[in-house]
Amino acid sequence: MVATSKGEVDQVAEVEPHYDRQSELQAFDETKAGVKGLVDAGITKVPRIFIQPQCSLDDGLNGTKGIFKFPVIDLDGIDTDPARRKEIVDKVRDASETWGFFNVVNHGIPFSVLEEMIQGARRFFEQDTEVKKQWYTRDYTKTVVYNCNFDLHISPAANWRDTCYCYMAPNPPAPEELPDACSEIVIEYSKLVMKLGCLLLEFLSEGLGLNLSYLKDIDCAEGLAVLCHYYPPCPQPELTLGTSKHSDNGFITVLLQGNLGGVQVLHQNQWIDVPSTPGALVINIGDLLQLISNDKYKSVEHRVTANKVGPRVSVPSLFSTGPRPTAKVYGPIKELLSAENPPKYRATTVNEYTQYFRAKGLDGTSALLHFKL
Ligand code: OGA
Ligand code: NI
Repeated sequence: MVATSKGEVDQVAEVEPHYDRQSELQAFDETKAGVKGLVDAGITKVPRIFIQPQCSLDDGLNGTKGIFKFPVIDLDGIDTDPARRKEIVDKVRDASETWGFFNVVNHGIPFSVLEEMIQGARRFFEQDTEVKKQWYTRDYTKTVVYNCNFDLHISPAANWRDTCYCYMAPNPPAPEELPDACSEIVIEYSKLVMKLGCLLLEFLSEGLGLNLSYLKDIDCAEGLAVLCHYYPPCPQPELTLGTSKHSDNGFITVLLQGNLGGVQVLHQNQWIDVPSTPGALVINIGDLLQLISNDKYKSVEHRVTANKVGPRVSVPSLFSTGPRPTAKVYGPIKELLSAENPPKYRATTVNEYTQYFRAKGLDGTSALLHFKL
């Protein structure tokens, strides 16, 4: 999917070895219209602020695809059959240890709600630009934050993506605090995602050999941010990315990825496409769960390609209080530690972790390394 057009990139670098990147970023940021604004204006070339260094595009990881079976877990029968529950816990544990990613089906969120969530996100980005601009900010203490690339000013290359963050827990906003284009569905969807997230935390607790309420009791579901991403069609997808390689910084993420696909996960040193099955949700382990599970569960790197076809709309829900200040300290869970399994990380707060992650930006390295003992 990621073509190599090295010649083209080198040419750009040769013709324009120095340019005032900061002022170009600033000017673009001030339009408050995001990548969608560029596409609406009819650009036919990717502006240079978005061009990836060649190494982040092909990574040299072009191994054989198709030999791996991406995990799909069916939650049907979970409430009625104790044997099914044990089976599901085993599958969730295996997938979280090896892939850090899995799809869930029969998860209890109606298909119509998923569809309306995607439509609501799309309505937000496709509304009148002047109305949308009012939400444009980089102040993450706000309930709603719309901007283009949280790390626009520090990342090596900007991503072909606009985002709207809605902070839905621990302080659920009133409908009037959310954009009209999507307020109703964001509220409904977050309630259902919160319920699903809590069920997943039960499986993940049991998979660690802990009481089923353990992860919920230590507040892994205290915070919930519902993100709406908008990836406009890209005229030169081989030069940029929708989202650069990264791992997620929360405890878990529930991703609704629409029907266009585009997410790839780094598995055994290869980029594997995450299947986009209608009605399925993608679940992945975040850095904070890898940290507290002392590396048992893996927060695996993933990325989103840019595409000629679009817009692609996706809605990841992050279980994390994010930049909200909370006093709670998270380190490797004591019950999991022993002489053979000493702590691998120092303790931190969600706020400290998020600040570090944000300040670093998506530069291709993991924020977890900073917390390693
Ligand atoms: C993310 C992410 C994937 C997508 O927001 O962390 O990986 O499909 N998103 O947008
Ligand atoms: Ni992610």
